[in-house]
Amino acid sequence: MLLAIENVLTDEELAYARELFTRAKFIDGRVTAGELAAKVKYNLQLPAGAAETQALTGLVHNSLHRNALFVSAALPRVVCAPLFNRYVPGMDFGIHVDNAIRIGEVTLRTDLAGTLFLSEPDEYEGGELLIEDTYGVQRIKLSAGSLVLYPAGSLHQVEVINSGHRDVAVFWVQSMVRDIAQRSLLFQLDASIQSLRSRDPESPEIVSLVGCYHNLLRLWADI
Ligand code: NI
Repeated sequence: MLLAIENVLTDEELAYARELFTRAKFIDGRVTAGELAAKVKYNLQLPAGAAETQALTGLVHNSLHRNALFVSAALPRVVCAPLFNRYVPGMDFGIHVDNAIRIGEVTLRTDLAGTLFLSEPDEYEGGELLIEDTYGVQRIKLSAGSLVLYPAGSLHQVEVINSGHRDVAVFWVQSMVRDIAQRSLLFQLDASIQSLRSRDPESPEIVSLVGCYHNLLRLWADI
């Protein structure tokens, strides 16, 4: 399941994040890549210990945890500290699959991957994120402040940048529900319940459907 979520950041958060990007000193992005990915990764990255990185991490984590759509789709158990990347002309990230386990301050299994866009689509040429899913290759380029969430096991790549620069935050999520089919069913059920609640808040079926949701979550969740 590939999901785009718009306006994850408020205008103020986006402006602050972009200001931090202008102040920060970038390093070679290969420092955090696995052995295979390092051969195809060509971008810049904020160092983990930098003050700007800490501020951006808090900002992104807050925005994710308050976003009902993200929580419903990912059912996050752990969200890792994001990587903050910049691609300038000539840079790209060739086709790869992300490592299954991410070892860091917090070690997690990467069930879902997210890319939060910090540059507007008209600020750079090229740089599309290509993700292979069951419907074929999806080409993703979202507005600044928006997020794409996709299964971390998908083959994906970032096309070469021709002009401007592409700033993004990328992160991984370990979900409470490991199985992608179970997670998708819960997401679909939750969306249907929310829709029913807004259309007919007094509907007597709501309580039983909410019960089904929680009982399925009880059955499938690992915490
Ligand atoms: Ni990747």
